[in-house]
Amino acid sequence: MPPDLKWKICWETELQVDDHAQLSEFFRNTYGPTGEFNAKPFEGGRSWAGARPEMRVIGYDPYGVAAHIGMLRRFIRVGEVDLLVGELGLWGVRSNLEGLGLTHSMFMMYPELQRLGVPFAFGTIRHALYKRVDRLCRGGVGTILPGVRVHSTLPEVYPDLPATRIEEPLAVVFPIARPIDQWPSGTTIVRNGPEL
Ligand SMILES: CC(C)(COP(=O)(O)OP(=O)(O)OC[C@H]1O[C@@H](n2cnc3c(N)ncnc32)[C@H](O)[C@@H]1OP(=O)(O)O)[C@@H](O)C(=O)NCCC(=O)NCCS
Repeated sequence: MPPDLKWKICWETELQVDDHAQLSEFFRNTYGPTGEFNAKPFEGGRSWAGARPEMRVIGYDPYGVAAHIGMLRRFIRVGEVDLLVGELGLWGVRSNLEGLGLTHSMFMMYPELQRLGVPFAFGTIRHALYKRVDRLCRGGVGTILPGVRVHSTLPEVYPDLPATRIEEPLAVVFPIARPIDQWPSGTTIVRNGPEL
């Protein structure tokens, strides 16, 4: 772990304009290489892509933002069951620090989720990250749900484009206040909002 890394956990209202500008640059640099359009949502100083987080864990080093994860409490519908989750997203580590295990430090979100009484944390991840996420989940910390379809609204509505999207990403569940066997059995998840 780099010795000069400092972590902060904060609510969204605690962030100032400069913080958003710094995070926006971090996301453009971190998400840009993952796909042609993936840096686009972060143009213009925006520090979120779809839904906006309410809490963030941010790692800083002398070069600026080094790592980030965001969280938003929301109700999703799993099969027929409406379920409160802390959705995790906007997960990133600056490229020169990848593979060092910084994600483990982001688990400082965990006691906050416990304090908030959230039954589960939940996130969706692209399949290319299966090996990394599978390692993170070992020992029962989290579970990757196979074959789940996730229906989300798109952040913007355009006259000639669909308003929603259905994907089959890797869905990951972290049991917080309830055990994993209480996660509903449905294979369709409706966010009724945009992905975090
Ligand atoms: C995805 C991302 C955040 C992962 O960051 P990272 O620094 O590699 O994460 P970590 O080092 O904490 O890796 C987590 C685990 O995967 C392992 N790992 C890292 N790289 C790996 C690889 N290429 N293959 C398999 N396992 C790997 C790590 O060793 C660690 O396991 P450990 O518990 O044994 O230490 C980072 O690559 C990133 O920012 N990518 C661009 C943005 C992005 O795609 N975000 C996710 C959106 S869904």
